[in-house]
Amino acid sequence: MKDDLSPLMRSDWRYVDKNSLEDFSRSDWQLLLSQRQAYYREQQAKQVLRMLADSEHDPTFGYRINNYRHCLQSATLALRDGLDEEDIVVCLLHDVGFITCPDSHGEFAAALLGSYVSERNHWMLQRHALFQDAHSPHHPLADPKASERWRGHPHFEWAATFVERYDQAAIDPHGECAPLSHFEPMVMRLFARVPRPRPID
Ligand SMILES: [Fe+2]
Ligand SMILES: [Fe+2]
Repeated sequence: MKDDLSPLMRSDWRYVDKNSLEDFSRSDWQLLLSQRQAYYREQQAKQVLRMLADSEHDPTFGYRINNYRHCLQSATLALRDGLDEEDIVVCLLHDVGFITCPDSHGEFAAALLGSYVSERNHWMLQRHALFQDAHSPHHPLADPKASERWRGHPHFEWAATFVERYDQAAIDPHGECAPLSHFEPMVMRLFARVPRPRPID
């Protein structure tokens, strides 16, 4: 069987040699389940980091720094302010879908991180683009009062603080940016948490 393995297959894993899920036996599923946890432990954070790392040299459509540096600058500001590790990783990854998923990049980040972070951060990530509107008074499509509907919500202040301190101000080409390698262990630790299932509502 080893000779048949594609380059994507590792010699120290076992593989189910069937072409349809309907043909998988119970023991096939047990094999996958037994290897799945180890695989995610090894790969998940690494692949998330790669999504961001791959954008390092991407161009911008008008900002003076690209999305990669914006993410690093956001996380660096959070680090300088002494925020906790979860908040720093949330800053680092809040816009990881900004280019690939522009109109719903907040939901993208919330889906990516939601099982590993507090409800406060999940809530903020989902809505951060609308909170950002308050800082774009001349944006022709933004409603500066978009976030007002949530005033009084327990996570309102954090969302407002996040966009003010760690988002709208993190576009400075001369601003401090710690290297991605500085944040890698934090991302690894976050994804090593036991994920909380998030029911679809
Ligand atoms: Fe954003
Ligand atoms: Fe942002």
